[in-house]
Amino acid sequence: MESMKEKIQKIFEERFGEKGTLYASAGRINLIGEHTDYNGGFVFPGAIDKVIMAEIRPNGMEKVRVFSIDINEYVEFGLKEEDAPSESWARYIFGICREIQKRGGEVKGFDAVFAGNVPLGAGLSSSAALESCFAFALNDLFNNNTIDKFELAKIGQSTEHNYCGVNCGIMDQFASVFGRKGNLMRLDCRSMEYEYFPFNPEDYELVLVDSRVKHELKDSPYNKRRESCERVAKRLGLETLRDATMEALDAIKSDITAEDYFRAKFVIGEKERVLAVCDALNAGDYETVGKKMYETHEGLSKDYEVSCEELDFLNDVAKEMGVTGSRIMGGGFGGCTINLVKKDLHDKFIKEAVTRFNEKYGHEPMIYDVVISDGARKIEE
Ligand code: GLA
Repeated sequence: MESMKEKIQKIFEERFGEKGTLYASAGRINLIGEHTDYNGGFVFPGAIDKVIMAEIRPNGMEKVRVFSIDINEYVEFGLKEEDAPSESWARYIFGICREIQKRGGEVKGFDAVFAGNVPLGAGLSSSAALESCFAFALNDLFNNNTIDKFELAKIGQSTEHNYCGVNCGIMDQFASVFGRKGNLMRLDCRSMEYEYFPFNPEDYELVLVDSRVKHELKDSPYNKRRESCERVAKRLGLETLRDATMEALDAIKSDITAEDYFRAKFVIGEKERVLAVCDALNAGDYETVGKKMYETHEGLSKDYEVSCEELDFLNDVAKEMGVTGSRIMGGGFGGCTINLVKKDLHDKFIKEAVTRFNEKYGHEPMIYDVVISDGARKIEE
């Protein structure tokens, strides 16, 4: 089978003649710490072996010409604010160009062809992979790599905010830019301090079960969740919920809506869970890691209300089968569960989850074994 790289190169040459340079960036998983990033809390992601790859070459013009292999669509746009394309996938690339320019960086016209194997709408951050791939590439091609890696992640995040309508936190872009093979990363989203955690448990595997229920954060109540958190933080006189305690929350319970109360309750609990998981990992205590994952699922489903029937079902199946840990992953409203599974239960779990899900919902979930991999990079030939 033709590899993604070969396909990109072939189409680039057909469309644009000479060769360009290849770049890639990755989707991500998150072990624990959901909806904590925009609350100044901790997250625990890692990049995975599913990527967006692009071949890019400056074209000496003032416009960008780009072809998406997967969508089979060609778009051209200029580099001024009023040149924003209407195609949603192209807006990610346009946003990256504009956010670099807004920061005083340079972007000139270029040609690009890209493709990917990060499943769309599965909660694996295909959009962050696309943003980080182009941010990394344009830093290399036009800015001599003078933009630091955190700024590259922020350029992706601002693209979401300003061009794609998602008021997201920094986790996905951070993971996509900073990802390192075999390592998860714990990021403190307030201080932006981070630490790599080698993750290679001998007896366990991480498995994603994709319900194939599509979510689009843009039209989902994601932004509303964030607003709830910000309202409660403000009411508590805090910048973010990072510093909130359950006692403080309970003290203002009668002044806020029940909905806001439960959103904040989840976030406060989740902050503690990430730290507990780090300690447990250091001690090799995967039972505790798994227990915390189930608690997160419960909170995301009941208090934060970002799960859905299909994902709750997958979580129940995992629990019934004695899977060590399982929870909905990412922004929610569809997508995957992430499961920490003992190696000897792996095949049985997958078989059972696929069969039972199919019986109930009439389609099979997709299964992905997680391989923790590198993030944004240039692909040397
Ligand atoms: C999406 C957002 C992230 C983060 C997660 C939930 O993936 O892009 O910033 O908030 O949801 O943890």
